[in-house]
Amino acid sequence: MTIAELLRSATQANASSDSAALDAALLLAHVLNVDLSYFKAWPDRTLSDADQEHFNGLLQRRLEGEPVAFIIGRQGFWSLDLKVSPETLIPRPETELLVEKALELPLPEDASVLDLGTGSGAIALALATERPEWAVSAVDCMPGAVALARGNCQQCALSNVQVFQSHWFAQIPPQQFHLIVSNPPYIEEGDRHLFEGDVRFEPASALVSGPDGLEDLRVIVARSADYLTPQGWLLVEHGFQQGDAVRSLFKAAGFTTIDTLTDLNGRERVTLGCYTVAA
Ligand SMILES: C[S@@+](CC[C@H](N)C(=O)[O-])C[C@H]1O[C@@H](n2cnc3c(N)ncnc32)[C@H](O)[C@@H]1O
Repeated sequence: MTIAELLRSATQANASSDSAALDAALLLAHVLNVDLSYFKAWPDRTLSDADQEHFNGLLQRRLEGEPVAFIIGRQGFWSLDLKVSPETLIPRPETELLVEKALELPLPEDASVLDLGTGSGAIALALATERPEWAVSAVDCMPGAVALARGNCQQCALSNVQVFQSHWFAQIPPQQFHLIVSNPPYIEEGDRHLFEGDVRFEPASALVSGPDGLEDLRVIVARSADYLTPQGWLLVEHGFQQGDAVRSLFKAAGFTTIDTLTDLNGRERVTLGCYTVAA
């Protein structure tokens, strides 16, 4: 079979996926160890039996619902190609909104930054890449996520990030950051989305946050003030129906300049506020 024929038949077989053609191309690129542009240049190349068999095995996993990122072990985020694992969330494009906003804030050149619940390290590493002079600390409670983020940090050759294990602020020595960012778990226990699509393969530790989805956000927003400089910023991602609740949490914790940003679908996604110490 040629590359073009294999991609066509795999796309048809996986027609229930919204991204069937891209899924097939990513899986084949992984098997052949090439990038996607290769398929435009060599559509008529015939595949070896071994490559075809390898591809069929991966396609079968995709047809059973496993996310492409877990099958190939990688996901693009910002400008980075990150390793991913079933120990934590696959970084989502929506989270790039939080990175974009963080980079626009009025922060010192040598800002100190904390990423809570770093997972693969996506947010921390994107910020550290864009601002080499920032000092970024990144924590996660799951040892597997800490190891993954450390590996990604090494692969990106970043020397301005340190990753360590902490249950939110519990293992973070007292200090003040100019910016705290977090994409914490925020789905309600039992939410039907947990049983659909890619999310079924991701761990509850990265997704679920109590009966109303706000348990972790409550802790993060309430405790952040103790770890922020005066005029420091907190940015959090949350569910699209949690905007009102999250703004109330920011207000109750003494934040000002509170704002919520919407994603490309017009849904509330990221809330931020500035910690202004009363005179
Ligand atoms: C929604 S995932 C976000 C991962 C990554 N920041 C991203 O945007 O792709 C939430 C992360 O928070 C971590 N987490 C959950 N509870 C935590 C806690 N109590 N302390 C620290 N990290 C926690 C999970 O292990 C997971 O990696």
